[in-house]
Amino acid sequence: MTHSVLLLPGDGIGPEVTEVARTCMEAAAAAEGFAVRFDEAPFGGAAIDEAGTPLPDATLEKAKASDAIFLGAVGGPKWDDAPERPEKGLLGIRKALGLFANLRPVKVFDGLEDFSPLKLERVKGADVLIVRELTGGLYFGEKREGDDEAFDGCAYSAEEVERIARIAFKAAQARSGRVTSVDKANVLATSRLWRRTVERVSGDYPDVVLDHMYVDAAAMALVTHPARFDVILTENLFGDILSDEAAVIAGSIGLLGSASLGASGPGLFEPIHGSAPDIAGRGIANPGGAIASAAMLMRHGLDRPGAADRIEAALAGALKAGARTADLGGEDGTQAFAEAVLTRLKSEARRGAA
Ligand code: NAD
Ligand code: IPM
Ligand code: MN
Repeated sequence: MTHSVLLLPGDGIGPEVTEVARTCMEAAAAAEGFAVRFDEAPFGGAAIDEAGTPLPDATLEKAKASDAIFLGAVGGPKWDDAPERPEKGLLGIRKALGLFANLRPVKVFDGLEDFSPLKLERVKGADVLIVRELTGGLYFGEKREGDDEAFDGCAYSAEEVERIARIAFKAAQARSGRVTSVDKANVLATSRLWRRTVERVSGDYPDVVLDHMYVDAAAMALVTHPARFDVILTENLFGDILSDEAAVIAGSIGLLGSASLGASGPGLFEPIHGSAPDIAGRGIANPGGAIASAAMLMRHGLDRPGAADRIEAALAGALKAGARTADLGGEDGTQAFAEAVLTRLKSEARRGAA
């Protein structure tokens, strides 16, 4: 059976890291004995330049017809004042595909323990899964924008909270059995609904230990005691902020991948970093987050855990052996880092076939 994957390279370093992800997916699929057909479509700033809109209808149609979608990154100063920004395309595709569950795993790779700016004894044992609600809250509330006044509304329904909470509880069951729900229930009405709903849903998962934290305290604990967390369950904006913060545990935002999933239909897989305009076009971006996202695409998007394991092992192996892009204090370019991963993917495949 041939799987179809739509690539949305996007802007800045997006195309550079997407190409690496594609070659890794190809190698892993070959090693596992299945085929992937790749297609590509304009998205973000590149689509504004080409078609006048960040999410052209044709791109959305291709996305809906694919088995999974891989996204590089969108945005950049060139389009910051465009009538429709590239980021609007990203929010648009998440909403149109109903991708309410964003999974962002953060852990320390072997060999990188010393690289985090956090003290070694703090990062040791840190392994966190951030489960971020992705299609509600402030991002999608009522908006008004005037010259002297602006408004962003934050709304959540119990149903929206319940479905993301179930994702978090189920994920915790397969991990260390702990969920920390992060909110601002001392101030926000939506957070009080969030907390009540999560409490109620937790009754269905008696084997999972639930606690609640305010987001300000959680932001601190994430860097002082990261190992206290297993699954962090939180709303859209808090999850966005906490996941960039959590990247310091891993040592670089360039290493983290994510999966955005809906109740059905194709999922979307993307590194959590942006288009990094400051380093775009120089061949020095860390493709690790894209590679990690490619593994998540295999696991959650195509139900190919064997291919996912291969990609994850090759990435971990390359890092352990010392592959380092500039953000990790090294001298490898994107391509050299990619080669270190690909060599492992291919040699493992030969060993498997022997
Ligand atoms: P960013 O993540 O692009 O960059 C933040 C910093 O991290 C920069 O110094 C950058 O060089 C570095 N960095 C990021 N990824 C890296 C990688 N793979 N390797 C090495 N270094 C890396 O965030 P930003 O600068 O705030 O945003 C730039 C643009 O990207 C904005 O337009 C923003 O809206 C957009 N953005 C897009 C996405 C997405 O497409 N999913 C996510 C975040 C930001
Ligand atoms: C992310 C990004 C996006 C978000 C932006 C680019 C709209 O920061 O995926 O983390 O805020 O969700
Ligand atoms: Mn973000």
